[in-house]
Amino acid sequence: MIKVAPSILSADLANLARDVEEIRAACADYVHFDVMDGAFVPNISMGVPVLASLRKATDMFLDAHLMVDRPVRYVEQFCKAGADLVNVHVEADTPENISAALEKIRACGKKTGVTLKPGTPAEAVLPWLEQVDLVLVMTVEPGFGGQRFMADMLPKIRAIRGWIEERGLACELEVDGGVDAETAPLCIQAGANVLVAGSAVFGKPDRAAAIRAIRGAE
Ligand code: DX5
Ligand code: ZN
Repeated sequence: MIKVAPSILSADLANLARDVEEIRAACADYVHFDVMDGAFVPNISMGVPVLASLRKATDMFLDAHLMVDRPVRYVEQFCKAGADLVNVHVEADTPENISAALEKIRACGKKTGVTLKPGTPAEAVLPWLEQVDLVLVMTVEPGFGGQRFMADMLPKIRAIRGWIEERGLACELEVDGGVDAETAPLCIQAGANVLVAGSAVFGKPDRAAAIRAIRGAE
């Protein structure tokens, strides 16, 4: 089953609860929550207080994508604020601290994810592949919505899907960046099962039709 995770980076943040209710009614699967610290990426978005407020407004699955340096410092706060899954970049700290971050997330009873930037090889996921619930492959440089999909990331998606299958893991494989009705089928073909889409959902007047088009249902 293909899951669609609209990124609220492209939502109307002054009407966040309304926009999230709209995608819930449109059968979106996850809410993708982009956290940017102005250091790991050259942009600042939103953080713990916004996630805590959103948690009160919806029962949807909250997928927190931390584009943050040394995320081990913050993962517990995001878990306590109500994230269902917390995703950390493998480039954001030492391997020891990434493992410590994942352990903290698990200790809070939440799902774990690791994310790879475009320049990071697929193999970088291997130390964590058997212990995480989700791997996220970035198909744009993290930091901004509305960028062009990098088709040269498809072999990376294919390689990681192969390893998940070989090992018989339940791990989900998510893609993020430039995903729309045209690029989604390429991601699905390569083995992704969770598709993040910001501008391709919230940039369209009919969000339900946009989600159906990305899922491949029309
Ligand atoms: C980019 C973020 C994405 C972004 C995707 O750094 O991680 O989640 O919102 O936006 P689109 O779908 O417009 O590329
Ligand atoms: Zn994201």
